[in-house]
Amino acid sequence: MHENTIGTIMITQEEILQKAKEIGLRITQEFEGEEIVMVGILRGAVLWMADLMKNIGLDMTIDFMAVSSYGGAKKSSGVVKINKDLDTDIEGKSVIIVEDIVDSGVTLNYLRGYFVSRGAKVVKICSLLDKPDGRRIDIDVDYIGFTVDDRFIVGYGLDYDQRYRNLPYITYLED
Ligand code: IMP
Ligand code: MG
Repeated sequence: MHENTIGTIMITQEEILQKAKEIGLRITQEFEGEEIVMVGILRGAVLWMADLMKNIGLDMTIDFMAVSSYGGAKKSSGVVKINKDLDTDIEGKSVIIVEDIVDSGVTLNYLRGYFVSRGAKVVKICSLLDKPDGRRIDIDVDYIGFTVDDRFIVGYGLDYDQRYRNLPYITYLED
């Protein structure tokens, strides 16, 4: 059975929606007159991306990628594998990668390089959460919703072994 216990609420849905408004406005202003492609990283980013894109007043398209490095474990294996590639030609376009959390930085470091190699003009990163204590690769995250401490976070798209993604708030697993 499931032996994990959920902690207290760290970030509420209301706080996330407010943050999506703020960051959506910033992106709208910073990319004025440009066409952007927003690429969500499945599956954790879907709730955050849905909130964010409603607040972007630009000509834009969306796409998704699925990558894995975790499996059922709580720490990154350090190896990134593409399980679902882009369907969009991003050559010459401005790409905003939407992620749920930056932990070691391995995934986003790999993805940034991948988008550059596919000819993107600009690659920006927007992550709902940032866990700086987990960092193994120094990476610039352009838009961060919230910074969290070094716990295993679940909810609002984030999972442990595919569970808890449906929680309408951010919480953590008790050790
Ligand atoms: P990184 O490559 O170590 O930065 O990890 C990025 C991916 O690991 C994220 O997209 C998440 O899927 C997963 N991840 C990292 N930390 C957590 C966490 O605390 N809870 C749930 N998933 C996490
Ligand atoms: Mg993920």
